[in-house]
Amino acid sequence: MADWDTLFIDCHLATMRAGALPYGAVEDGAVALKDGEIAWCGPRADLPSENAAEVHALDGAWVTPGLIDCHTHIVYGGDRAGEFELRLTGATYEEIARAGGGIRSTVEHTRAATEDELVASALRRIADLTAEGVTVIEIKSGYGLNRDDEMKQLRAARAIGAQAPVDVATTFLGAHAVPPEFDGEPDRYIDLVCNEVIPAVAGEKLADAVDVFCEGIGFTADQSERVFAAAQKQGLPVKGHVGQLSDLGGAELAARYGALSCDHLEFVSETGVKAMAAAGTVAVLLPGAYYFLRETHLPPIELFRTHNVSLAIATDCNPGSSPATSLLLMLNMACTLFRLTPEEALAGVTREAACALGMSATHGTLEPGKAADLAVWRIGRPAELSYKIGANPCAIVVKSGKIVRDLRQRA
Ligand code: NIG
Ligand code: FE
Repeated sequence: MADWDTLFIDCHLATMRAGALPYGAVEDGAVALKDGEIAWCGPRADLPSENAAEVHALDGAWVTPGLIDCHTHIVYGGDRAGEFELRLTGATYEEIARAGGGIRSTVEHTRAATEDELVASALRRIADLTAEGVTVIEIKSGYGLNRDDEMKQLRAARAIGAQAPVDVATTFLGAHAVPPEFDGEPDRYIDLVCNEVIPAVAGEKLADAVDVFCEGIGFTADQSERVFAAAQKQGLPVKGHVGQLSDLGGAELAARYGALSCDHLEFVSETGVKAMAAAGTVAVLLPGAYYFLRETHLPPIELFRTHNVSLAIATDCNPGSSPATSLLLMLNMACTLFRLTPEEALAGVTREAACALGMSATHGTLEPGKAADLAVWRIGRPAELSYKIGANPCAIVVKSGKIVRDLRQRA
């Protein structure tokens, strides 16, 4: 009997293990898979057995962990190309939102769509991500804004996990905007979210975490705290859309609730950064939204580094602020716009992204015992993943031990 199900040789590994060499790199490495997990990985010279059911010689390619997109709103109805045109004639994202457009317009289209329609349109976008080696994706609700439509979005997200070669982590974002039925009564809407929707979502195990949009055009810190408390009551971890347009103290608040991550973070104080560091909260940077909204206020990268806050990167794929379906492009933007190093950027879509989803025990690095999620790249060095703009050097994707994409024949 073979020792391994699948063995990759003639390759280099960017294991992304913390504290190891840059990229946790292993030149001339090997990875052995068994029962959907990484059974062994390291220098080929130390490989204990080459007896595998399948052996793939990779011709000097690089192998990384499957990429993780840890912040998306990829399930939605309609699009906002018209709003994009409006912004190009001078209207701001905030003005459009305050005039009843923005998130609310996507809510209208999402409510009108069936669960199957939502799944079908999201699967097309997800295909772009998986073609670039993404094997785990987080999907938020937040375009239903009532019990049934929020649950419909979350069910669509779960269905995607069953239909596409990705693990899906779902996040309930009922506190994304005030729906039209509650115009001028955000507190009454938060009552509904806390008393009715969160218990219903938790009861059906539809969400793995709970998020809020703590912002002038979203919810106040007090309202956000009520949502976090309701999540905590159900045993659900929290996250926050924090400091995208202004600083309402959301990072400090989220950290008090032991948040997995705070996301956006263009506007955050050193106190907020320190609170995140103390709570082990990951900073999820969203360069696509920064770019697309032509933001100019940079997230305080140096402060995050000084206080050892982990940095993750995600697409924030959504129709309004970041219609992006390329995680590799986000790596380039994180380096170009935010001055991350290519190594920080790659860690941000592997090891640190897993951390932002509470999945570090099973995902995010090449290590024995972790899920056999891998991407194989035709590149000379890992920095190329951040360096190129619009290229996709992904040759093979392995999800839970199975090859789900293989472009070698086309070489
Ligand atoms: O992460 N900031 C709030 N939520 C999304 C945008 C949602 C939308 O505009 O539809 C974001 O940028
Ligand atoms: Fe977002």
